[in-house]
Amino acid sequence: MNISSKWESPSNIALVKYWGKMGIQLPANPSISFTLNEAKTITKVSLEEKTTKDDFEILVKYDSKEIPEFEGKIIQFLNRTAHLFTFTKQFKIVINTVNTFPHSSGIASSASGMSALALCLCSIEEHVEGNKTLDFYRKASVAARLGSGSACRSLYGGLVSWGAHKDYVGSSDEFATQLSEKEVFSGFYGFKDMILLVDEGKKLVSSTLGHSLLNNHPFASARYEEAGKNMSLMKKALKEGDLGLFTHIVESEAMMLHALMMTSNPYFVLMRPNTLAIIEKVWDFRKQTGLRPVVTLDAGANVHVLFPQEEQDAIFQFAGEHLLQYCQENKYICSSIGNGPKQL
Ligand code: PMV
Repeated sequence: MNISSKWESPSNIALVKYWGKMGIQLPANPSISFTLNEAKTITKVSLEEKTTKDDFEILVKYDSKEIPEFEGKIIQFLNRTAHLFTFTKQFKIVINTVNTFPHSSGIASSASGMSALALCLCSIEEHVEGNKTLDFYRKASVAARLGSGSACRSLYGGLVSWGAHKDYVGSSDEFATQLSEKEVFSGFYGFKDMILLVDEGKKLVSSTLGHSLLNNHPFASARYEEAGKNMSLMKKALKEGDLGLFTHIVESEAMMLHALMMTSNPYFVLMRPNTLAIIEKVWDFRKQTGLRPVVTLDAGANVHVLFPQEEQDAIFQFAGEHLLQYCQENKYICSSIGNGPKQL
């Protein structure tokens, strides 16, 4: 048997954050992200004859080395997506994956990893069934979501929203949709994301725990309302190229995400002193120069600095002189906004 599929799929950075979920991997509020270009996962899935009677038989490798510790998460994913893929119980599934960004860099690999895996399974499903899937990327987005919520946004390039919202036509809680070029001021497609690696360690709070903290959170309903409003404002900022409004929403979303963590039960502080030092330096620089770097954070200590392409030289120089000293071993990743996944 020689059935396999190989895809590369990117990571993404949320501008309005998904934080809190309901049901099976449905978002408690809508979100929107930039798809990145430089932080990708490359995954190959091959089918082999099954040797056991278990529901699923899998072999998971990272860069050709076996990693049994990932198997639990993959089995959970295969269980959740069994209704989408007819073949996953019939064959042994061999998964070989590798990231283009440093392992354990503190960059979430679940978005790129789960979207790459979903794409491989969708391609194999087409092959095994012998017919084309009507909406291939939508199906891959539904499947990726069942692995990791934010992964469903990695299926498309540019700006991608996920979660039903009245201002986003065709939006759904089940899958992500891409904003059309008509809805986005062209300058945003040239944006860069400089990811400053403040803390390369394992995540202090897993996504699963983080989302669940919203279930009994005193500010949860206010948060969901704010996220909805921010989605409306973001739509306007993107369409009109309003960088002031864009900056305000992106930064306030990052602060709100961390404020939610600080006020949950149990509470967590995910920023490190160096995270704050970088944020303050960026804000000072913006005030002094009138240039427009924008700060955002994931659920961790690393800082993402988003900026327009034309400011690249000035911001690289500033980062080299004033920001990299706060990173572990001066490490950073600079990414452009990407076009989405690619079949290899
Ligand atoms: O996809 P998850 O379950 O790892 O959650 C991602 C959550 C954030 O990165 C903090 C926000 C987002 O929308 O990507």
